[in-house]
Amino acid sequence: MKGILLAGGSGTRMRPLSTIINKQLLPVYNKPMIYYPLANLMLAGIREILVITSPEDSELFQRLFSDGSRLGISIRHAVQESPRGIAEALIIGADFAEGQRVALALGDNVFYGAGFAGCIERACERKEGATVFACAVEDPGRYGIVELNAGGDAVALAEKPSVPASDLAVTGLYFYDRQAVEIARTLEPSARGELEITDVNQAYLDRGQLHVETLPADTSWLDTGTHESLLRASREIQAFEKSTGALVGSIEEAAFRMGFIDRARRRELAGELKDSDYGRLLLELTGQG
Ligand code: TTP
Repeated sequence: MKGILLAGGSGTRMRPLSTIINKQLLPVYNKPMIYYPLANLMLAGIREILVITSPEDSELFQRLFSDGSRLGISIRHAVQESPRGIAEALIIGADFAEGQRVALALGDNVFYGAGFAGCIERACERKEGATVFACAVEDPGRYGIVELNAGGDAVALAEKPSVPASDLAVTGLYFYDRQAVEIARTLEPSARGELEITDVNQAYLDRGQLHVETLPADTSWLDTGTHESLLRASREIQAFEKSTGALVGSIEEAAFRMGFIDRARRRELAGELKDSDYGRLLLELTGQG
């Protein structure tokens, strides 16, 4: 399975923070926002990842991740000429995906919690169709919503409904089989001029192939697209890391846990960061095991 990490967009809700700096490079507590979704793709066992961003920001991501070999993975870089919608990532990544299954992660979505790894595992095991991850929210009218029947099967999707039929928001991590690229190619831009990922999911729903993993109670989903939510995410991650002594969204940890790098390499990577709290904690964790 391959992974696509989407880090373009306009970031209009984050201005002026995002006027000069790509939103996905802003900090969520002690690491760049993009680390969190990258770590999640790695924890899904994915070693081949395509990072898609705007032409002007691509160089920054190349400097940050290079070709990924430091982490025992392969990272390639591609550009989206303008923010024409999330589903365009599947078209840009068509050659990269080469007819294989693909996981698409939005660069501004943070997930953490003990039960999340199990959710990802179940999605990985499913060879056919699409899997989306749903999370109960207080204000469903602001999100893409999925409605489930009593058996937990998806029956309807709705984009920012004025009268929401459920409180389950569709989050920014999608697992697709090989049909996704073809589906994306048939899409027409929506009224807001974007290729909508909801339309891809709707096509899977129409085929009876949309699976929904509802996030367990111990898993949090944080959309970090606004000033308030960015600050809240930083606070939550800080509190979680301080209380558990664990690192959330650490790409070095994820690489080690998945066996992409060995202990010596992890120590080396941690050593390079030892002047920061992040690096010190990584070193401590390396010592522990
Ligand atoms: P959004 O938060 O929906 O959009 P945005 O990042 O442009 O921000 P704003 O609404 O404040 O203008 O995007 C979700 C994620 O998808 C985010 O990580 C950026 C990414 N994205 C792209 O890379 N390309 C796109 O064309 C779009 C629409 C989003």
